[in-house]
Amino acid sequence: MAAMQAAEALRAAGENVVDFGAGEPDFDTPDNIKRAAEIAMSAGKTKYTSTGGTRELQQAIIDFYSQFFGANYERSEVMATSGGKQAIFNAVVTLINPGDEVLMAKPYWVTFPEVVVFARGVPTFIETEETGFVLSAEQVERAITPRTKLLVLNSPCNPSGRVIPTEEFERIMEVAAARDIYVISDECYLRFVYPPGEVFSAASLPASLRARLCIAGSFSKTYAMTGWRVGYALAPRDWTREMLKVQSHSTSNANSIAQSAAVEALKGPQDSVAGMLAEYTSRRAWLLDALKEIPGLSCNEPEGAFYAFPSVRKCLSDGLKSSAEFASRLLTEEKTVVTDGAGFGADGYLRISYATSMEQLREGVTRIKRFVEGLKG
Ligand SMILES: Cc1ncc(COP(=O)(O)O)c(C=O)c1O
Repeated sequence: MAAMQAAEALRAAGENVVDFGAGEPDFDTPDNIKRAAEIAMSAGKTKYTSTGGTRELQQAIIDFYSQFFGANYERSEVMATSGGKQAIFNAVVTLINPGDEVLMAKPYWVTFPEVVVFARGVPTFIETEETGFVLSAEQVERAITPRTKLLVLNSPCNPSGRVIPTEEFERIMEVAAARDIYVISDECYLRFVYPPGEVFSAASLPASLRARLCIAGSFSKTYAMTGWRVGYALAPRDWTREMLKVQSHSTSNANSIAQSAAVEALKGPQDSVAGMLAEYTSRRAWLLDALKEIPGLSCNEPEGAFYAFPSVRKCLSDGLKSSAEFASRLLTEEKTVVTDGAGFGADGYLRISYATSMEQLREGVTRIKRFVEGLKG
């Protein structure tokens, strides 16, 4: 948000800004989805819905998870939410009592610790730099204390783009199940995994590993629908019942028109998702090669989402002490927005979103390179 505002201010001042800060697709919502919303409005689907969403949307979500992941969720275990963010919020505030510890890997999506603090829980961070920012079962095991109540997983990860391998994910779930720890699996970037990697959902795990699992899903990234505010939670019936109470007395239900659009998103043609993935795939390949050409930068390969997360530590010196300073000078000197990794709990790193055109990518990387080379001069 801060990066977005800074870019906005510079643009308003007439500057030619390259913006790698965006946490949302640069694509428009596909036409079939927009049409479904128009039809819903014309048909008067403009009223409150059930708190957990329309029957059609709940069923579409259940069908999707059944078709692709072999899961058989019931309607009492699914609810539509105002974005994946509300699913996470509902799940945390219904579960966490003051002092409960909530485990999450560093780097983390900024909302995770904030929601935990809101619920008076204690965010407890797991360092994963030694494993290239891919969380392992061993790291989880080591971090558990008698106060640990919940573990938050996010694969593909924002900001690192890293994906937890399926077997490791299963091992993590085994560790959590053995210690009666609840898990939120944030699957917001579920469908954006780069070949040869494969899309994986925690929904495909055996039922014994899903007894304390809440999946938080979203239409925002997959279908370029960030502004529509629609997501969902899949969780055991008792947990869902509590989440419905929170939602009922806060936002009531996800937007009715957006819910109709979301049904079309899941049930309609999926070629737009494939098209976006193909575009991200080529941008990612170009960007990773280009970053290798910048002295001092090193980057783990992101297997999913649309972010690269390079380390800039080797560029730091007495004259440039932190990644925050790097990002801020890059903005003033080269009019290029990147997000400082410190906000995600990873000082020394930058998040570069490639949810932007190739032209912008080329220009921005040229500017970053010029900035880094200038540091040495
Ligand atoms: C990791 C992660 N989870 C969840 C969300 C929430 O998305 P939304 O509330 O738009 O569905 C985001 C959005 O940036 C995200 O990056």
